[in-house]
Amino acid sequence: MLKGRHLIDSMDFTKDEMKEIFDLSRDIIDKPEAFAHICDGKLLATLFYEPSTRTRFSFEAAMLRLGGQVIGFSEPNSSSASKGESVADTIRTVGCYADIAVMRHPKEGAPKVASMYSSIPVINAGDGGHQHPTQMLTDLLTIQSIKGKLTNHTIGLCGDLKFGRTVHSLIKAMSRYEGNKFVLISPKELRIPEYIKNEILVKNNIEVIEVERIEDVMETLDILYMTRVQRERFFNEEDYIRLKDSYILDGEKMKKAKKDMIVLHPLPRVNEISYEVDNDPRGCYFAQAKYGMFARMALIAKLLGVK
Ligand code: CP
Repeated sequence: MLKGRHLIDSMDFTKDEMKEIFDLSRDIIDKPEAFAHICDGKLLATLFYEPSTRTRFSFEAAMLRLGGQVIGFSEPNSSSASKGESVADTIRTVGCYADIAVMRHPKEGAPKVASMYSSIPVINAGDGGHQHPTQMLTDLLTIQSIKGKLTNHTIGLCGDLKFGRTVHSLIKAMSRYEGNKFVLISPKELRIPEYIKNEILVKNNIEVIEVERIEDVMETLDILYMTRVQRERFFNEEDYIRLKDSYILDGEKMKKAKKDMIVLHPLPRVNEISYEVDNDPRGCYFAQAKYGMFARMALIAKLLGVK
């Protein structure tokens, strides 16, 4: 039963509950007009303490396409957060006006704190370098829809694996499905955090390798999940310049990939995927952004318990 629940961490829902969301997403994709009024009279609050394009717009589009309405802020300085109001007090207040809330926050754990004080469902739309569970739903719906299954994939994750919250959520989620293997491609400065490695991968006996060069593993991958290498995380400019070009996916590198490999990226991209890859049918990152809206429509409907 998902009605009234929060979504804070990728592991908050069981696999059966995730399947419920994917099944409903598919029904919505197939027949959107049947769902155009299921949220009539309901209100979504978007509380974005950090910038966003996809997550905020897709949540807003999702609610509007379900017949509901949206309030919120995309800039905390326009809310009473700028006067020092706590997340706990903000969510208690928002709960007086809205039926469900989505929160993005630069501090890890802020949406969790909000959920502890909230009278309405709270959805984590990304908290610092920690988790991004609705990107995870987006990614799994995309993989399921394009590859036809969530099992037995060799998944390459490339770029900033240390601070990349989408990567953390995706590894946690895909580790629950049988036969998935991970190839972690990053400079050593940006390797996956030890807690993800030990508590998820090692603990569950999941096959994983860590490499620094994308070319060395390209031909083995079923899915390549690119992320932005964040210049600001490097200790010095020299290291950044040395490593950044290793992670520019271009047509030449794509020649080594399987014919049915897919390239995903949570976006925004800066320069890690060359524009020529956009014309390759294996580049699925804009389709992925669209699946995100359908996953969020299904999530909103389930948490509100509307039919
Ligand atoms: N993927 C993602 O979270 O994008 P935004 O930062 O634009 O929301």
